[in-house]
Amino acid sequence: MKAKIFSTRKLSDSVMKHLEDHCDLSVNDRDEKLSEEQIIKGVQGKDGLICLLNDQITKRILESNPELKVIANFGVGYNNIDIETAAELGIMVANTPGVLDETTAELTFALIMSVSRRVVEGDRYIRKGKWKTGWEIDLFQGFDLHHKTLGIIGFGRIGQALAKIARGFDMNILYHSRNRVESHVEDKYQARYMDKDTLLSQSDIVSLHTPLTQETRHLMSKRELALMKKTAILINTARGEIVDENALYEALKSKNIWGAGLDVFEEEPKIVSGLLGLKNVVLLPHIGSASVETRSTMARMVADNLIAGVTGKVPTNLVNNAVLQRPSKNG
Ligand code: NAP
Ligand code: GLV
Repeated sequence: MKAKIFSTRKLSDSVMKHLEDHCDLSVNDRDEKLSEEQIIKGVQGKDGLICLLNDQITKRILESNPELKVIANFGVGYNNIDIETAAELGIMVANTPGVLDETTAELTFALIMSVSRRVVEGDRYIRKGKWKTGWEIDLFQGFDLHHKTLGIIGFGRIGQALAKIARGFDMNILYHSRNRVESHVEDKYQARYMDKDTLLSQSDIVSLHTPLTQETRHLMSKRELALMKKTAILINTARGEIVDENALYEALKSKNIWGAGLDVFEEEPKIVSGLLGLKNVVLLPHIGSASVETRSTMARMVADNLIAGVTGKVPTNLVNNAVLQRPSKNG
């Protein structure tokens, strides 16, 4: 008998077909986010769950179905899932690491360039019919990136992919994470390890690439923003809650930092602070991994993680290894 699975969102036709070849699939085919109650209802009697990174998979959901064996998250960040409770309940959780590194780093660099060279401001200026005089000496002067200092907080897969791009621009790379990476990795990117405060005070661009954890929530707050140079920019393509958005708004409004580029927000899709009214910030709707190629690879990876979990295997991208200490639900 095929395993029963529930997906909180329809994936591409080919991935749906792949899932149906292995599983008895039911899916939320309305193009909208489900509530906790709706996910509980959907997952009843199912062996596997596919969810998006903005579906909150709570303890209540996890406890609502003793048959649940595996959750495959569409995204590398898995802060939306209570993975500890999942492990205690014998539920494996898997994510999509590695396949989106370059794509997310490219988007990060697009934000760096947009803010430093005022690309979006220039576009709006033309569309509003304000460009009357042609070339001018001081029109939208930004700042150069070459030979500037990029401070990367969270020097994992995406942080390193960003360093690789930045090296091509002859930028100096500083990084901070809880642990130093191996010296051959530092050498490869010519990256120097720094404590966080020194990195903040020395960087022209600060870019965040940690996961969202209790430790990283509001890692960039009023104190940290005050350490940045007045001429520096902050980029966040990690998770909104890593930055205190109200403190960032104040820092941008009072020009205590030069600008910011954000792909993620504290209460997506709402922009809770006054950021929408500021010119020195570029805002994107959480599209870090949104290339056709990468989203298609991620979808296939999600399906493969799920199929592994419901057919008695350990998914390649298991994140809650503690679950392996529990008795297997596959019998
Ligand atoms: P990763 O390879 O696990 O790298 C995370 C890095 O953060 C590691 O170097 C880790 O090193 C460091 N870190 C963890 N906790 C830290 C802390 N408290 N202080 C400083 N550094 C810390 O993860 P990744 O694949 O690069 O992804 C990073 C995050 O990007 C994801 O979790 C996700 O939230 C986000 N993301 C967003 C998008 C988007 O669409 N905008 C796309 C993909 C990913 P140590 O353990 O040594 O500290
Ligand atoms: C995107 O935000 C991801 O975590 O994959």
